[in-house]
Amino acid sequence: MKILVTRKIPAELLVPLESEHDIVMPGSTGAMDHEQFLEEMTDAGAVLSFLTDPLGIDVLNVTPRLSVVSQMAAGVDNIDVDACTARRIPVGHTPGVLTEATADTAFALLASSVRRIPEARDYARSGEWTEWRHDLLLGEDLHDTTLGIVGLGAIGSAVARRAAGFSMRILYTGRQRRPHLEATLRVSYRSLEELLAQSDHVVIAVPLTDTTRHMIGTDQLALMKPHASLVNISRGSVVETGALVDALTTGAIGRAALDVTDPEPLPADHPLLRLANCLVVPHIGSASRLARRRMMDLAVRNLIAGLQRRPMPACVNPAAIESARLRLDDEKHAAGQ
Ligand code: NDP
Ligand code: DGY
Repeated sequence: MKILVTRKIPAELLVPLESEHDIVMPGSTGAMDHEQFLEEMTDAGAVLSFLTDPLGIDVLNVTPRLSVVSQMAAGVDNIDVDACTARRIPVGHTPGVLTEATADTAFALLASSVRRIPEARDYARSGEWTEWRHDLLLGEDLHDTTLGIVGLGAIGSAVARRAAGFSMRILYTGRQRRPHLEATLRVSYRSLEELLAQSDHVVIAVPLTDTTRHMIGTDQLALMKPHASLVNISRGSVVETGALVDALTTGAIGRAALDVTDPEPLPADHPLLRLANCLVVPHIGSASRLARRRMMDLAVRNLIAGLQRRPMPACVNPAAIESARLRLDDEKHAAGQ
């Protein structure tokens, strides 16, 4: 079977697959040219994909042999998972192994934004730094303030644990209450509107879905405190970019710190890259050496399990494996085996 690995990963990880499969992998960690990706996908039996690979219905429709998708990311918003399930294609992903690294980044963004670290570094380098002044680069406090977490899943919970160490009062919102987490993490549930109005700082950690797309727009930003910081560690399009630019420009909110943007990457002249009260980093949430290595390992383990029609260690649609097994059994029975 042809296995397409859409970006270069260390070759030794793929050794267990080499004897039985034909592995196609580019020589670069950059994204494949789109035309080349489509061409390689047409006869691929399995793909080890990344968050920039568009695996929507139009691509699935031209990949008749595809039977396994293993993505090296926790988020799978680039994949039409329902269409994969209907085609009995298991979709693997890599949650968990990147949770703590991503929460570290979220908290680093939060602290940097609240205490204006990028502006302070620019000032120190600018040549204007000639004396100490008592009103220089004043920011907000992190300790003893209220943090609102939108999406108290793995990453949201890990952010909450960090916030507890800063004596923060923690609010969260989600589609359902989490009584166990409320007790263990000492977090309190609020509606999205209440959370935005009551928090000094907000961290977004939801997956991108039809319901979370643009869940933070003009109306929601208007609810936030004028000094509040907004950190987005999830996906760029959870926040309406135009509304965020307006809110940062008019002072409706204090600051934003973004690991993810819409579009991504931002064009070099984009206002979010120019505003002093906005810190943008290039989607490095999980970019610690260890987390990335663990993500690759897990993606390969998911791939191997999918190829062997075994349950993947981390699968978004486990029902696909079960129905694929039934199909194999049916085929065997039909062949009298
Ligand atoms: P989890 O599935 O563990 O957590 C997601 C949380 O979002 C759940 O608590 C869920 O709670 C909540 N949620 C889902 N839908 C909604 C909704 N409509 N409204 C409010 N809350 C909602 O995922 P992770 O924490 O592991 O990852 C979250 C996302 O972060 C990933 O999907 C990915 O997009 C992104 N990510 C980004 C990284 C980066 O590098 N920047 C790294 C890793 C992940 P409930 O279902 O109860 O509502
Ligand atoms: C993910 O895993 O979803 C991130 O965006 C990249 O680590």
